[in-house]
Amino acid sequence: MKKIGVFTSGGDSPGMNACVRAAVRTGVFRGVEMVGIMRGYSGMIEGDFIPLGADAVGNIIQRGGTILKSARSKEFMTPEGRKQAYENLKKQGIEGLVCIGGDGTFTGADIFFKEYGIPSMGAPGTIDNDLYGTDYTIGFDTAVNTALDAIDKIRDTADSHDRVFFVEVMGRHSGSIALEVAVAGGASAVLLPEVNDDIDTLKDIFNERKRKKSFSIIVVAEGDEDGGAYKVAEELKKQFPDIDTRVSILGHIQRGGNPTANDRVLATRLGAACVEALLNGETGKMAGVLNSQVVLTPFSEAIKKRKPLPDILQLLQYTNV
Ligand code: F6P
Repeated sequence: MKKIGVFTSGGDSPGMNACVRAAVRTGVFRGVEMVGIMRGYSGMIEGDFIPLGADAVGNIIQRGGTILKSARSKEFMTPEGRKQAYENLKKQGIEGLVCIGGDGTFTGADIFFKEYGIPSMGAPGTIDNDLYGTDYTIGFDTAVNTALDAIDKIRDTADSHDRVFFVEVMGRHSGSIALEVAVAGGASAVLLPEVNDDIDTLKDIFNERKRKKSFSIIVVAEGDEDGGAYKVAEELKKQFPDIDTRVSILGHIQRGGNPTANDRVLATRLGAACVEALLNGETGKMAGVLNSQVVLTPFSEAIKKRKPLPDILQLLQYTNV
């Protein structure tokens, strides 16, 4: 393989740049010509390619966002869009792809390989930590630390006013960020899409709070079946009208900022692993880290298999007596 294209796609995540850097420099080290594809599948369809030498990826390891930009391409979901993308890759002489993104990115890469035979390897770049085959995705650790910093600040004002704060965090259908941040932030409770939480279980916390007159932080995953922080707060307010509640939606700040050391190292390992795997003849797999080892998992499994949440939920009960 003489020429490899690299792109970032879907929601950006801190550490994507470190991953691009590692893929490019590993390729250059191995004598491969590396090409950046702008805005993910959109740039592939539009023919927006840039040469990436080792210098082009200097001074980006510490930067959030992605120098290659990102998009969610509707056109690539059509056979015509994929045909156009294939023709552009062929014209460029690109023989393999490193895709950095989440489930949508890997679904696209999988279909593309089946239709046109372009080998692809993926690095899990998403804050959601929702992919099977890796303990952590690139950007998750940074997002958790950003949300944690916000929660620590919210605690100060919650304490001063004896208020209950419902803090909503991102994660789409996954409660990974919510769970981690709830334990690290000393929350009173967490509502997760993976757990069928009965809102009534929050009643105990509210009753206890009435007795002690202290503040509470309740973390709500955006994908929770009860409908997000505003809905949950509204529901509780009906039963406890005297309690002073506030809602805080953390939103896209969780996607930005300088990646943590953990995310930079993970991104570097996986970017390099993708290129090495392509050169070893692998395709259609996501590189992840499981128990400190780099492991390759077929895209179909990484996307479809349910990733179990770490066994830390009960810690909230023990630590909030
Ligand atoms: O997948 C990353 C993510 O930030 C999710 O946590 C969130 O649900 C979604 O993307 C938001 O998407 P957008 O940036 O398109 O609003």
